[in-house]
Amino acid sequence: MNQPVKQPELIGTSKNRLETFYDDVIEGLQSVPKRLNSKYFYDANGDKLFQELMECPEYYPTKCELEIFSEKTADLAASIIADGDAFDLIELGAGDAMKSTWLLQYLLKQKIDFTYLPIDISDNVINYLTVKLPLSLPGLQVTGLNGEYFEMLNKAASLSGRRKVVMFLGSNIGNMPANEAVDFSRELRNHLAPGDMVIIGFDLKKSPKTILAAYNDKGGITKKFNLNLLERINRELNADFDLSQFDHYPTYDPESGACKSYLVSLKDQVVNIDGRENIRFIKDEYIYMEISQKFTIMQTDQMAENTGFRPVGRFFDSKKWFVDTIWVAE
Ligand code: AVJ
Repeated sequence: MNQPVKQPELIGTSKNRLETFYDDVIEGLQSVPKRLNSKYFYDANGDKLFQELMECPEYYPTKCELEIFSEKTADLAASIIADGDAFDLIELGAGDAMKSTWLLQYLLKQKIDFTYLPIDISDNVINYLTVKLPLSLPGLQVTGLNGEYFEMLNKAASLSGRRKVVMFLGSNIGNMPANEAVDFSRELRNHLAPGDMVIIGFDLKKSPKTILAAYNDKGGITKKFNLNLLERINRELNADFDLSQFDHYPTYDPESGACKSYLVSLKDQVVNIDGRENIRFIKDEYIYMEISQKFTIMQTDQMAENTGFRPVGRFFDSKKWFVDTIWVAE
């Protein structure tokens, strides 16, 4: 009988990116029910599809938050400038920094003393921001941090003792199941000092039809966005998913506020991954792909209070579909 060969564990080295991806995919697809982690949506092609999605008429969250950052810039700035001492403005998952650019530009114009520290897992994003942002925003001090959020927050703390303002926009917090979002918020608090601030973007509960339409666009970009993860698994993990044999099924439950997406197998089929694992699907079996949780204002306040923050400000778009909340670490 073949004994599984245990990989030697070297102290201080972490598993490489591809091994972690493989392990997560196998663990998810061997679970009942099957699932994949939506954080893997964002390879180069996934980034491009999400850009396209943000342009879709049905996909409102980015437009709402952009409206907040472009129309309420002065009020947003005033609440983070506080008593005027210098600070580090940190952004988790900065992406193209389109929304935050409004705030950065305003703070520069007001001659506020701050450094912008975008954190992103993509080195592409960080290289782009550190080179391009100072060109369009002369005088901006940027320190890009390429890595995991909390590791890079530690790094930021070691770089300066200034007070911190951390932005986590785009309702990215909605991609975590409720208990994980609370854990995340608590860990965020643990990386901050009393008086530090966070700005968190939450997508709010609204007409179920509006929400479902945003995750079921007529152009089929959301479907491609989900299927792209199967394609990524095929390419990077040497698998043989037949994309034409899976259908996209988006759902929204107005009671819980959970907006979830699934890929449903159109037939009995077996998918091989890297010649190592066979994954069996029966017809109509699904893979749970993503949650995009929708919140009430009361829930956002509760999350703050349960995790060591005090909610001190709220900024809405004109339709009140989205909120950016300001919390102060207690
Ligand atoms: C980038 C996580 C905010 O959940 O609304 C868009 C991703 N998924 N359409 C979201 C997404 C399907 C998006 N976030």
